Amino acid sequence: MSLSTAADPSLLIFPDADKSPLSIRAKALVFVDPRTRQLREEVERLAGLPVPILIEGETGTGKELLARHIHRSSERPGLFVALSCSSLSPNHGEAELFGYTAGAHQGAPSSRAGWLGSANGGTLYLDEIADLPLALQGQLLGVLETGEAWRAGASAPTPVDVRLVAATSIDLWRAVESGKFDERLAHYLSDGHLQLPPLRERVGDVLPLAEYFLGIYTQRLRLPLPTISLAAQKVLERHDWPGNTRELENVVHFALLVCGAEQIEARHLNLPVAPPLTRIEHALQQLADEGDAQQLASLRELLRRAEQRIAVCGA
Ligand SMILES: Nc1ncnc2c1ncn2[C@@H]1O[C@H](COP(=O)(O)OP(=O)(O)OP(=O)(O)O)[C@@H](O)[C@H]1O
Ligand SMILES: [Mg+2]
Repeated sequence: MSLSTAADPSLLIFPDADKSPLSIRAKALVFVDPRTRQLREEVERLAGLPVPILIEGETGTGKELLARHIHRSSERPGLFVALSCSSLSPNHGEAELFGYTAGAHQGAPSSRAGWLGSANGGTLYLDEIADLPLALQGQLLGVLETGEAWRAGASAPTPVDVRLVAATSIDLWRAVESGKFDERLAHYLSDGHLQLPPLRERVGDVLPLAEYFLGIYTQRLRLPLPTISLAAQKVLERHDWPGNTRELENVVHFALLVCGAEQIEARHLNLPVAPPLTRIEHALQQLADEGDAQQLASLRELLRRAEQRIAVCGA
């Protein structure tokens, strides 16, 4: 199913967003920057294929939202089950993941399907997959490849049909090199690799996202929709966004609450206000206007690192 609206092709709408857990508040994925539009094409291509997917991206870039979109687009009939690998219990991780039969261990009066069993027929989203203990990584790969899981205490395997969508904020191949990640699982995940760029590298998404969040929050709080002043727009576009889209959402929410007027000004954003445009920034602006996304992204990254160096050692 294609979720974009004919009216606005940069919005992927989640039709049943109200059924999503509260932590996932978005009703749509905003993809406007050329880099995310390209990503969107890749997502549409991969979503319906029977391949596992690895989403790589910094914190707050929207990995889980993207995973939910992939699940919906795949039209798999089962559930979308999200699990943060670091939340598995150190002692009972295997049973939590693959399930157990009644009496398999102390405190197991009845059998449980486990996270994998709950996602049967659907999608298992494993957040920060590099945090999965090494032994479980190998076991998980075995289950996904054979389509059979052994529940703790069971005398026969249970058939499972699960599509894995994994997320990571670190480079898995580096983790493989340092012996912390199973090389075979990394290969298994490499067929469907999606890179979600940090927000500072897709500046074209910043204002559309800000307006999208404004729309959501004004509706929810029954407030009139303010505009964003030009100066505030510049501040938003030049901020580094270490917390990515989640940070932008919080900044917009805060600005809406404090602006108390028709317009959000730079002072309402609670972000450092950049000095007047330098010649380099003018050049960046021109590249942005010309739509040269790749060159723009690498120049911005260079500028960001130079600014960091100046901040640290005054070089
Ligand atoms: N493209 C987008 N359009 C609309 N909302 C978005 C988009 N990307 C992210 N968000 C919103 O930003 C917040 C963070 O997204 P999400 O939880 O998916 O990020 P994440 O990469 O999984 O973060 P973490 O690494 O911390 O787990 C959520 O509220 C989500 O709804
Ligand atoms: Mg997440």
